[in-house]
This record gives sequence, structure tokens and C-alpha cells, in this order.
Amino acid sequence: MTKRTTQYVCQNCGATFAKWTGKCESCGKWNTLVEEDLPEKTHSQITAGKGGKKFDFVDLRGAPEIIFRLKSQIGELDRVCGGGLVPGSVILVGGDPGIGKSTLLLQAVAHLSETVNKAGSPTKCVYISGEESVDQVRLRALRLGFSSANVALASATNVRDIVATLESGPAPDVVIIDSIQTMYSDTLDSAPGTVGQVRASGNELIRLAKRLNFTLFLVGHVTKEGTLAGPRVLEHMVDTVLYFEGDRGHHFRILRSVKNRFGATDEIGVFEMTESGLQEVKNPSALFLADRRGNIAGSCVFAGVEGSRPLLVEIQALVAPMSGQSPRRAVVGWDAGRLAMILAVLEARCGIIFGAKDIYLNIAGGLKLTEPACDMAVAMALVSALTQKPVPADMVVFGEVGLSGEVRAVPQSDLRLKEAEKLGFKKALIPPQRSAKKECKESAIHKTEVGHLRTLTDIFRG
Ligand code: TYD
Ligand code: MG
Repeated sequence: MTKRTTQYVCQNCGATFAKWTGKCESCGKWNTLVEEDLPEKTHSQITAGKGGKKFDFVDLRGAPEIIFRLKSQIGELDRVCGGGLVPGSVILVGGDPGIGKSTLLLQAVAHLSETVNKAGSPTKCVYISGEESVDQVRLRALRLGFSSANVALASATNVRDIVATLESGPAPDVVIIDSIQTMYSDTLDSAPGTVGQVRASGNELIRLAKRLNFTLFLVGHVTKEGTLAGPRVLEHMVDTVLYFEGDRGHHFRILRSVKNRFGATDEIGVFEMTESGLQEVKNPSALFLADRRGNIAGSCVFAGVEGSRPLLVEIQALVAPMSGQSPRRAVVGWDAGRLAMILAVLEARCGIIFGAKDIYLNIAGGLKLTEPACDMAVAMALVSALTQKPVPADMVVFGEVGLSGEVRAVPQSDLRLKEAEKLGFKKALIPPQRSAKKECKESAIHKTEVGHLRTLTDIFRG
């Protein structure tokens, strides 16, 4: 019997199989198995026969070392990373092609090269592109006004060469690999971008980053389904996972942290893509509300929170006569299932009948909202669209809605109200406040507590 030399690897979850099947038995996805070479040595072969070295244990107690962080001077990026870049940490930046990952990281290294590292010498930055030629990167730097920044630039894709180069020179402080899907390790035969290659080259580069103690940025492309190609293998290996998202039709971009060993997750940074690169947006609420016209039925301002940051956004609803065979429900920027739930609650619990109407819901500006706190604002926009009565222009709304129509408390009410006050809003519809918790006391905004969605209609009548 000949020895097996290949295996089948699921490109979605990284599970391995001896035989090809149409459906991955691990994650249930179809047509994701790709034949790849078996790693030359298995784990047990590597460890067999060798005696390991003994190590010492320490106490859980003890003063933690204060972590030094490099500051990229891009406040939004530093905040999303937990207050700066930790030497020896690995940050995966995912996003759709063309969203601005290369632009963001080139700006970051250009700024970083002007700062000093822990030892007090200038931060050494390296940018390795596997997708673009040196000239293309230079052209972009010129466009961004950084052509004289002290950044070491190279176009390379072989991980062995990259490791040899970085090991031989003076140790870098920050290294950008753009992108991990173009890198290949010559110990494997499979093509760049396959799970095997992404895992092997990711592993090599991460080990190097830990050994030489530099901050490593790995750029990763997102597949059509919205996940990083080879997602699980990479996400587990790195310290921080950031997603760069946004709508190509809109000029703003959001950098979101979904995993961070050195800071809070769900933190967002907001940028605007301009002719001269990405600009930080210090006041995102003002940006998202910039095009709002007051006194229009179907529009409601939601006071949201993303990470540690309050964010006001306009929710728009349109209720129109049915145009097809069955009523249409179209949602942009929110969960369609959640819209169906709110509609059902309004109909069954509050007697507000939408019936055979087309319903469209849009989060203005191309933002994607996931907070349940958005429920009441959506209900408000829907009722306003149906009754053709505008929500007062100086009112913000937040609160989660339960299946019986009750409105539930949401976290960080104070933060939401303060932001609304700052932007000139005068009224707020909020969930009932627990008396023990003295939230929402500070702001001068006029607050109306709503216990049940049924009472929403009173606001339109009044
Ligand atoms: P890029 O950083 O190449 O995206 P990614 O690396 O995520 O694939 O960004 C490409 C887009 O950004 C491109 O469509 C042009 C636009 N862009 C600007 O609008 N202004 C700029 O200053 C730059 C450099 C790019
Ligand atoms: Mg790019």
C-alpha cells in the first residue's frame, strides 16, 4: 500500500479529511474541500524521542508589567487596538478588496516612522506587499504625501525569503504583510491563498514576530460570504482581529475590533476616504446625521453605542402600496429577521396593522447596526411611515423590544443621552429606568420613559 501524501482541507473551517466529500462534515459547507499536501512531519513525529526541557511555574500574584505601546498618531486606529500597538503582537486586518486596507496601513507606518520606539530610537517600519509592485506602493505614498517617510518597502511573497531578510537586518518595530493570501511557504505544494498556505505562512510570520518582538499587521481578504478566507485558522492564531468595513458607494469606513487580547472588543474607529487618503472622523454622529432633513415621516434618530463610543444614526422607513404578488420587505443595514419581529409585535400586540404593504428599512449612510437597542427606533420609524406623521426632529430614541411589546432597558443610557444633547437634541424616548440604578440623571434632555410599544402611537397623536 502506498503512503498517503495528500489530505483534503476545508477552505472554510480548516478541518482535514482523508477522502474528498461534497460537504464538509465539520462545518456543513458545500464544495469547500481542496486537496493539499500532508505536512512533512506530524506533531507526534516532531516530539517523539526527544526529552523536553523543564520549565518553572510562577504565582498568579505579582505586579504585571506595564505594556509599552507604539502610537500610530492615527487616534482612531490606536483606540481600536486598545490604546496603541503592542510590540510582539499580531493584528489581522480583514476587509473587502478595495475598501482601503493598504491605504490605512501605509498611512499608519508613515506616521509610525516619525515616532520613537521603546528604546527611544526611531521606529523601524517595514511594508511588504505581495499584491502590488514597489512602484505602485510608491505612487500611493506620493498621493498620500508620505513619499519621504522612512519606511522600508519591498515586494515579496516567499515567506522563507521574508524571514531570512527580517532576521538578517536590524530588528524592525512594525511589519506590514499585504496580504497573507499572497504569501506562500515552499514547504507546501498548494497554491497561495489556500487554508494550508495561509496557516503555514501565518504561523511562520507570527513566530518571527514573537521572536524578534515586532508588531505584525497581516492583511486578509474577505470572501464573498463575508468571512476571511481561511478564517478560523488565522483568527485563532493572532492577538487582534480588526475588520475594515464600509459601503463602496459611501465615503466613510469603519474599523471594528472583533477580538483583542490587549484591549476591548467592539470598539470602532471611523474614517472618511478622501482624495488624499483616509481622514479620521472625530465626531461620527455629526457625519451620519449631516444629510438629515427634519420633519419627514418615516425617519427616526437612534442613539446607539458602538464599543465605547456613542453614535447617532438616522433610521428610515418607507411603507408603500404593494407592487408585486406578495408584500416586499427590504432591509439595508439591519437584520431582516428582526424587522419581521418588530412588525409582528406591532401588529399582534399594538394593533398597528401594516397588512399588504411593501416595507423598506434603511440605516442612513450605509452603516450596519447590530445593537438590539435599535428596536424601538425602528418601530418608531415604521409607525411614523405608516401614519405619515413625522417623529419630532429634535427627538432621539433607543430601547430593546420584547415579543410581548414591552420595552427593555439597554446599557449605557447616559452615554447615549449625552451625545444626543451635545448634538442639540431636546427630547428622548427611553426604556423604563430601574430606580436603583440612577442612570440618565445627568443630561438635561427631556426624557419620556416608554414601557410598552402600544404607547408609541400616543406620541403621534399628541
Ligand atoms: P486600497 O487601500 O488599495 O484597498 P485594499 O487594500 O483594501 O484593497 O484602497 C483602494 C481604494 O481607495 C481605491 O478604490 C481608491 C481609493 N483611494 C482614495 O479614494 N483616496 C486615496 O487617497 C487612496 C490612496 C485611495
Ligand atoms: Mg490592498
